Amino acid sequence: MDYLEIKGGNKLSGTVTISGAKNAALPIIAGTLLSDKPITLTNLPNVVDIRTLLKLLTMLGAKVSHNKTVATIDNSSINSTKAVYEIVSQMRASILVLGPLLARFKECEVSLPGGCAIGQRPIDLHLKALEAMGATIEIKGGYVKAVAKDGLKGAKIVFDKITVGGTENIVMAASLATGTTTILNAAKEPEVVQLCEMITSAGVKIEGIGTNELSIEGTGGKALNFKEVEIIPDRIEAGTYLCAGAITNSSITLTKVNHQHIRASIDKLEAMGCSFELKDNSITIHPTSTIKPVNLITLEYPGFPTDMQAQFMALAVMAQGESMIEERLFENRFMHVSELNRLGADIWLKGSISAVKGVEELYGADVMATDLRASSALVLAGLVAKGTTKVRRIYHLDRGYDDLEGKLSALGAKIVRKKEA
Ligand code: EPU
Repeated sequence: MDYLEIKGGNKLSGTVTISGAKNAALPIIAGTLLSDKPITLTNLPNVVDIRTLLKLLTMLGAKVSHNKTVATIDNSSINSTKAVYEIVSQMRASILVLGPLLARFKECEVSLPGGCAIGQRPIDLHLKALEAMGATIEIKGGYVKAVAKDGLKGAKIVFDKITVGGTENIVMAASLATGTTTILNAAKEPEVVQLCEMITSAGVKIEGIGTNELSIEGTGGKALNFKEVEIIPDRIEAGTYLCAGAITNSSITLTKVNHQHIRASIDKLEAMGCSFELKDNSITIHPTSTIKPVNLITLEYPGFPTDMQAQFMALAVMAQGESMIEERLFENRFMHVSELNRLGADIWLKGSISAVKGVEELYGADVMATDLRASSALVLAGLVAKGTTKVRRIYHLDRGYDDLEGKLSALGAKIVRKKEA
């Protein structure tokens, strides 16, 4: 198993290019199943999760050619509609094939994803919505078996809770359904918006894109013909590099970013004393030698993203004063707290709320990555910790950060990937 060895204390400088968004690319890759014609995707991040989903499509019979950031997917020869446990258990987002497979082939089987390090993450809302659209759902042997013999029908869906993946699955299912589907309490994350735009580019009418109420006019079973899609920049990767600039008190420039998508992170960093220079699609962070404490609550977009909570906690550890961080989306997304405390942080945790008392210094230690974003928080802390930090179990990082150690090294960080002896 690989680990990252970081020697803390180096300032960063220079420019980093932000990759395409993993969480936009995954539903778009699943969405290609709505088509029986080849489609090319560009600006894909070069990360494990993308390869995992492409492998799943290949197992279903798709012809996929993939080279780092570009993939061409031809779903004209799908000969299986079963998403097996071996893949789904590696990556929960595989559940995103449920909606498009059912819509196009009228039946499918998708393994239930099972437990997760950040919370229970059920898929009940996806299933309830598909049932409202006329599907019969049965859970047997660890699989969701979904059937809609006469095709899916448009329906009025009211999500009890805002769900990104649920909204994506239902938008995809609705695009081939007969009639109009309305989704109330829909997610409006930029990644959902890009999926909707991909589908409208194929001629499907979707109203309310980017709002909490979507209305989708389905094609009545007719497969879609997509245009090439360029994946939007990764707002979480961008936010993570802004935190790297802030925590190391360094000025760095990020290119290929969408300022609007990272507004919540910029606002909180400004509240912590950082300043910014924004140009067309780049942003330069000018940090502050004195990081101010911050209060933040994770919310759905455009609120503060749960996927940035751990990285801001690492930054808050170095602030002068006490920060309060509340996690509202996932019930168990604080696994990084005890690892940050091992580096010398002073974080108190009760339920979904943590109090972070700023400390003068952190000290390098061996720490364990527990999920994707928790891992990047440990790397950020390692950049400023005195001595050497070893971050283990970095397969979590590889799932979602494109060449993190390469990009940080190019900025001047002392970070190397090593193999366990
Ligand atoms: N939920 C339910 N029932 C459902 C679906 C969701 O109770 O049927 C709950 C979840 O348990 C959670 C909340 O609703 O408490 C929100 O979950 P959501 O469905 O929005 O999350 P997701 O679609 O599973 C995506 C991202 C996550 C990101 C969340 C929230 C992808 C592939 N994943 O997950 O990204 O944290 O939205 O923004 O898009 C990451 O990249 O590290 C990551 C975890």
